[in-house]
Amino acid sequence: MGREEKIFDSFDAYRISQSKLPKLIFDFIEGATGREIAAKENINSFDKIKLLPRALIDVSERSLSTSFLGENFCYPFGIAPMGMCNLAYPNADLLMAKIAKERNLPHCIATATSTNLEEVYSAGEDKSWFQLYVLNGPERWLELAKIAKSIGYKTLILTVDVPQAARRLRELRNGFNVPFKIGMSQFIDFAIHPVWSIRTLSAGIPKPVLFQNEDNKFERTANRMGANWDFLNQLRSIWDGKIIVKGILSTEDAKKLKSVGIDGIWVSNHGGRQLDGAPSPIDILPLIRNALGKDFPIAFDSGLRDASDIVKALASGADFTFLGRPILHSLAAAGKSGLEKILSIFKEELYIIMAQIGVKEINEIDNSVLAGSQE
Ligand SMILES: Cc1cc2nc3c(=O)[nH]c(=O)nc-3n(C[C@H](O)[C@H](O)[C@H](O)COP(=O)(O)O)c2cc1C
Repeated sequence: MGREEKIFDSFDAYRISQSKLPKLIFDFIEGATGREIAAKENINSFDKIKLLPRALIDVSERSLSTSFLGENFCYPFGIAPMGMCNLAYPNADLLMAKIAKERNLPHCIATATSTNLEEVYSAGEDKSWFQLYVLNGPERWLELAKIAKSIGYKTLILTVDVPQAARRLRELRNGFNVPFKIGMSQFIDFAIHPVWSIRTLSAGIPKPVLFQNEDNKFERTANRMGANWDFLNQLRSIWDGKIIVKGILSTEDAKKLKSVGIDGIWVSNHGGRQLDGAPSPIDILPLIRNALGKDFPIAFDSGLRDASDIVKALASGADFTFLGRPILHSLAAAGKSGLEKILSIFKEELYIIMAQIGVKEINEIDNSVLAGSQE
C-alpha cells in the first residue's frame, strides 16, 4: 500500500509528514511565530463557521470550475507560495508546477525557492505565478521581476506582510538555518530519518537560488522592507501582467491598493507565521469584501484544511483560495502521489459539499450558504 493510500484528509498528511521528516524540517513547515496563537486560531475560526444544508434542489449536475483574474481554473483553489519546498520532498517545486498544469490550477513559486525560475515555468507554463519579496533597495527586486517577466510569468504576487522576519521559536530552538548548520542535535535528527536524509542528499541539499543580498549571500531573516508604496508604483510601471498584493488584513490598505491600480489583493496572515496577535483572515474577509465592493478580485489563504473551509472562504467574500501547509505535508508524506491525492480529496469533498448546500456552480456560493446568514 502506497503512503498516499493512508491519506484521507490533510490531517492524515500532517501525521505521516511528521513521522517522515526530521523534526527540524517538520517544524519549519508547521511552525508559526510567537506562541502560535494566530496559527491555531486560523483553524479554530473556520470551525466556528457553519454551513447551511439545503433541501430539494436539483444538484445532479455540478461544476467546480471558476475564473479568477480573467483566467479559468478547474477548481477554486491553487497552491500558495512557499519557500524551500524541496526540503519537504526532492523536486517539490517542479512536481507542484507540473501537477498544477495538468490539473489547471495556479501554483505560486516563491522568491525563496530553491529551483530556478526557468525550470518551474517550463513545467507549469501559464499556471506558474511568481511571488516576489523585496529586501532593501528596489533595483535588484525590480530586476528580478523583469527576469520573471522575460521568462514568461504573467501574474506576480507581491508579499507585503514580512517587513521583518518574525521570531519562530521552533526554528530558534531547533537551530534551523539555511544553509544548514549541522551540530550534534541536527545530526541525530537527520540520522534517525534516514529515508529523508538519503533522498535529500542524493537530490542535492536545496539552496535558495534567488533570494540573496547584495553580497550574493542568502539571508533568511533579512528585512523585506523594500516593499513600500513607492516600490509598488515602480513595479506597476514595469509589470504589464496581473499584480496581486499578498498579506492584507486592513480594510484601509485594501482600499488604497484598489485605488492605485492593483489587480487583486490576497487576504492572509501568512499562516500565522508573521504576527502572533494578527486576527484570523477568515474573520476579516467579509469586512474587506464589503470595503472593496463585490467585483474586486480577492484571493485568500491561512488555515484552509478541508473543502468546507474553502466554501466558507468563498462564502465570506473570497473569489479564489490557496492551500499552504496541507500541500507540503502531502508531498512530505507521499511525494507526487501524496500531492495528487490531497488535491483529489479537496476536489471530491468540495463536490459533495456543494450538493449538501444546494449549489451547482462555484459562483453561486455566497453568504447565503452560511448558517449564520439566516434571519
Ligand atoms: C513552509 C512555508 C513557507 C512559506 N514561504 C512563503 C514565501 O516564501 N512567500 C510567501 O508569500 N508566503 C510564504 N508562506 C505563506 C503561505 O504562502 C501561506 O500564506 C500560508 O502557508 C497559509 O497558511 P496555511 O499553510 O496555514 O494554510 C510560507 C508558508 C509555509 C508553511
